[in-house]
Amino acid sequence: MKVIGINGSPRKGGNTTILINKVFEELNKQGIETELIELSGKNIKQCLGCMSCTREQDHKCIMTDDFYEIYLKISEAQGLLFGSPVYNASITSQMKAFIDRLGFATFNGVLKHKVGASVVAVRRGGAISAVDTLNHFFAHHEMFTVGSTYWNMVYGMNIGDVENDQEGIANMKNIGENMAWLLKKIHTQEVMIHE
Ligand SMILES: Cc1cc2nc3c(=O)[nH]c(=O)nc-3n(C[C@H](O)[C@H](O)[C@H](O)COP(=O)(O)O)c2cc1C
Repeated sequence: MKVIGINGSPRKGGNTTILINKVFEELNKQGIETELIELSGKNIKQCLGCMSCTREQDHKCIMTDDFYEIYLKISEAQGLLFGSPVYNASITSQMKAFIDRLGFATFNGVLKHKVGASVVAVRRGGAISAVDTLNHFFAHHEMFTVGSTYWNMVYGMNIGDVENDQEGIANMKNIGENMAWLLKKIHTQEVMIHE
C-alpha cells in the first residue's frame, strides 16, 4: 500500500514538508509506503478549462508539463495526503493549480475509495478554510477523508517553527495512525461493491 504526499509550498523542505513527513513516519511504522512530491520547482500549469482530459482515453492534459507523471503515481496509490501552507487564508496558488488539474483528470473515477487527508502550516489565521478547500476535493471524488483530534493545522512561520506546536505535531501522528487504520480496513477484506 502506498500514500502519495503532495506539498503545495513554494518552500521546499519547509514547514509543510515537516508536517507531511510526520504523517509519513507513522504510516511507515505501520508498513505503508510513502512518497513525497514537492510542487516547488515543478512545472504545473493552470487548468485551461478545456476538459480535454475528461475525453481522452489516458486522461492526458493537452498541456505538456509535470502534471501527468504525478497523476499516474496518484492513480496507482491507495492514499493521498495534501499539504499546503496557508497563503491569504487559503491554499497556495501552486496547490490550487494542481488540484484544479487533478479534479478534472480524475473524473474517470480513479480516486474512488482511496483515502485522503490534508495538513496545513500556518502562522496565525485562515487555516480552517485552507483545510476545508483541500478536504472538499476528497468529498467529490468518492474518497474517504481522514481526520485527527483537533483539525489538521500546525502553527509556525519560519522553517522548523512547527516543531514547537506540540499539539499540532501530535495531530500529525494521529492522522498517520488513522490513515493506516482505514487503509488496512479497506484493503484487508473483500467487499461487494455495485460497480
Ligand atoms: C504569501 C504568503 C501569504 C501568507 N498568508 C498567511 C495567512 O493568510 N495566514 C497565516 O497565518 N500565515 C500566512 N503566511 C505564513 C505561512 O503560512 C507560514 O509561514 C507557513 O509556515 C509556511 O509554510 P512552508 O514553510 O511550508 O512554506 C503566509 C506566507 C506567505 C509567504
